[in-house]
Amino acid sequence: MSTEESAPQVDRPRSKSVFRWILLIALVTFSAGSLFGYDQGVIAGALKGIGNSFQVGDGAKQIITSWVTLGALVAALVAGTSADRFGRRPVLLAAGLLFIAGAIIQAVTPGVEILVLGRLITGFGIGFASVIAPLYAAEMAPQRIRGRIVSTYQLSITFGILLAYLVSDLLGSAEWRTVFLLAAIPGVLLLIGVMLTPESSRWYIKMGRKDKARESLSKVTEPGDVEKELSDVEAQVNAEAAEGEASWSEVFSPRVRKALIVGVGLAIFQQITGINAIIYYADTIFDSAGLVSTESQAKATLYCVGLANVVATFIAVAYIDRFGRRPLLFIGLIGMFVSLCAVAVGFATQSTADTGAGTSIVGIITMVGLVVFIASFAFSLGPVVWTIISEIYPGRVRGKAVSFATAANWGAAFLVAEFFLTLTSGIGESATFFLFAAMCVLGFIFVWRYVPETRGRSLEEIQEMWNKGGSIKSWEETAPKP
Ligand code: BGC
Repeated sequence: MSTEESAPQVDRPRSKSVFRWILLIALVTFSAGSLFGYDQGVIAGALKGIGNSFQVGDGAKQIITSWVTLGALVAALVAGTSADRFGRRPVLLAAGLLFIAGAIIQAVTPGVEILVLGRLITGFGIGFASVIAPLYAAEMAPQRIRGRIVSTYQLSITFGILLAYLVSDLLGSAEWRTVFLLAAIPGVLLLIGVMLTPESSRWYIKMGRKDKARESLSKVTEPGDVEKELSDVEAQVNAEAAEGEASWSEVFSPRVRKALIVGVGLAIFQQITGINAIIYYADTIFDSAGLVSTESQAKATLYCVGLANVVATFIAVAYIDRFGRRPLLFIGLIGMFVSLCAVAVGFATQSTADTGAGTSIVGIITMVGLVVFIASFAFSLGPVVWTIISEIYPGRVRGKAVSFATAANWGAAFLVAEFFLTLTSGIGESATFFLFAAMCVLGFIFVWRYVPETRGRSLEEIQEMWNKGGSIKSWEETAPKP
């Protein structure tokens, strides 16, 4: 590429070092995401063990499950402001410490109340990580691989979920305390990783520390490109700074509103189409679908949900910068809709057929349906939503706007986790899954109408698109070819 042509001789070893730094940043992003995933996935297997240890009913189970999302919501709201004030790294360090503290509290809890407190603290960690890890990755990654680096974050979430399922399966639900405690190990890895990585160059520029920004940028940019990159970032940050410090009211101002609607809308659709109902309650769903033994439920959860999630996310990571965000979203939403309908029909059949054979067919339909659902989510709404949220806001409000969209994501996740069991026992599994399917239809229309394609655009170009009115049509016409 042009970098190679214009680069001096010393470029080769230097490129290796660029590669190493980018790898380190990807690793930090990866450990933040794995922790997030582990803490999400752990509850599916642990619920039964907790139920046996403390004799809790559905209501308490929903609180134990959902309070992680409540903590995440609160932390997501303050994460952006904190990251703007103190830098991205300190917030990631705080996330690591919270993950460790939460893991220990959950593991040693004498009762439900302290367990919920531990879940809440872990939730704070998740909230910080879920805002700052993709933001940091987007700010540090070179443009041509930005989508890939940011979707690595999603890959890590799925990896964390898989790991939690695997550990739960290996140790059994009676060992739920150990399963929680193990989350402290990646917490320590995250802390070490963050200590080694540079602070975001954009943040340094914002703070007026150009030398530090250059130092940080030179780690992830080829030497010949550093000054150009630096002046691009500086010009953008200065233009933003000239308008003064971004306030919360600006996040809701007409200038940012369209981008805000896209981010928040995507964040909500990612949740109300049912992903976490399945991640958290997979064992319970397989139970209702007729898999009787705890082992078979754990295996179905591990392979159908956990593994399918990771494998399909690889597809997104490989293709997000080639195919673009919108096509992946469309295909994914169609797959999710069809599979949710299949699961809903399966459950409807179960309630009308009371034979043993009927039950096992529902089990099979549910398993196949959930694999297709998870796979469809994993190469679309899962990674693409976080990628777009990290790209579409003007730099000046990015921290706060990403926080807000992420908090909306957690708010929606909280509602789903808090009411899923109530919903299934109220209107039944079938109607609940049909409801999620209906949300996929609305999600499809939303993407079609409002979500721009950001593949191959620099963060600066994306801003210009919004400044010009954010028309999807004109944006599409000038889109770079795959
Ligand atoms: C979502 C999480 C979900 C995970 C599943 C993420 O993108 O934000 O809520 O648990 O995907 O893989």
